[in-house]
Amino acid sequence: MTIFRSLFLTAILLFIFCIGNAQVNTSKAIAYCAVQADKTLKSIPVNGINIPRNIAQGKKKWNYIGYKDWCSGFWPGILWYAYEGTQEQKFKTAADKFSRELTPLSMMKAFDHDLGFQIFNSFGNGYRLTKNPGYKKIILAAADTLATLFNPKVGTILSWPRPVPNMEWPQHNTIIDNMINLEMLFWASKNGGSKRLYDIAVSHAKTTMKNHFRPDYTSYHAVVYDKQTGKKIKAVTHQGYADNSMWARGQSWAIYGYTVCYRETKDPVFLDFAEKVTDVYLKDLPADLVPYWDFNDPAIPNAPRDASAAGVVASALLELSTLSRNKTKAKTYRKKAEQMLTSLSSAQYQSREKNSAFLLHSTGHKPNGSEIDASIIYADYYYIEALLRLKKLQNGVSIYSTSLSTN
Ligand code: GLY
Repeated sequence: MTIFRSLFLTAILLFIFCIGNAQVNTSKAIAYCAVQADKTLKSIPVNGINIPRNIAQGKKKWNYIGYKDWCSGFWPGILWYAYEGTQEQKFKTAADKFSRELTPLSMMKAFDHDLGFQIFNSFGNGYRLTKNPGYKKIILAAADTLATLFNPKVGTILSWPRPVPNMEWPQHNTIIDNMINLEMLFWASKNGGSKRLYDIAVSHAKTTMKNHFRPDYTSYHAVVYDKQTGKKIKAVTHQGYADNSMWARGQSWAIYGYTVCYRETKDPVFLDFAEKVTDVYLKDLPADLVPYWDFNDPAIPNAPRDASAAGVVASALLELSTLSRNKTKAKTYRKKAEQMLTSLSSAQYQSREKNSAFLLHSTGHKPNGSEIDASIIYADYYYIEALLRLKKLQNGVSIYSTSLSTN
């Protein structure tokens, strides 16, 4: 073995050892997020389209979107989390301002299933932290709007109510991402909304469980159903490498979504399923636990990573670790989540001086050639959410608490 080869192997082993044993400094990482969010806040244009969505690889400037974009709720959500983490008034003021930009979504016809991402991350977090009754009204209206997309013959929400390539419009399509938007329905049904919203969420989750997964519990991205009979027509990809591949973020939405379903229903079927979709994801991760954008891309190890999936999964696993009834699994989930956050908090993944996002190396829509190896707003959202959850667990408080510690 040459000296270089042995040095290289030693470095890899050292890295794996460090990731395996490091304790992420959550206070430092949350403070870092606050500094970056403040930089972004200061750079946002005063007029016009102003919600940050992504920064292309090697660039410094955010690309902005309007309130109708599916990613519009993440920036206000980040500001609410920055407020929760720092108690600084400037973040609360900005979070309120950017949340309010999304108000029209609660009054218009549903554009698609993303209402949960948009309204629950913004107003949902706002209500959780402030109990502002105006926010509650908006969430309840948005939940009713989302419910208009439910097709009882199929048993799921229509994710994209418009022609999308390969979705055989006007047949019914459901994408795995839609699992995240059930949380708003569960919440609404408990907070003054109709009981029907709960039933819709449960029906969606159970129908998806039946039709959206391969026997090894890896998820398809999209399922097309006959809208009259409810029969499954086909299962395909839209953002993944291939119909039969495991698109990393799709699987992360499944992990997060079924964890929420178990929290909200306490039906053990959902817990069992959340663990199954998690275990298959954890099995084939690279050493730093940040997945390649698709687990089956033949270009691996030269394929781009998806830090956003790692953030979503880290956050979900912290919750799952508190819900799992199997002590060994619970311990593994907590440890893996900590290791993921350690990787994401390293110089390899944090943006630091490179740009004002929190993280680098996310992949949005590879087949479309968009947002590849970029900073993407939802990666930052789930990263800070996971850091806050871990900080609460480290301090011995529930992840559902609105304060980071008992004092
Ligand atoms: N469509 C949501 C996502 O890219 O994960």
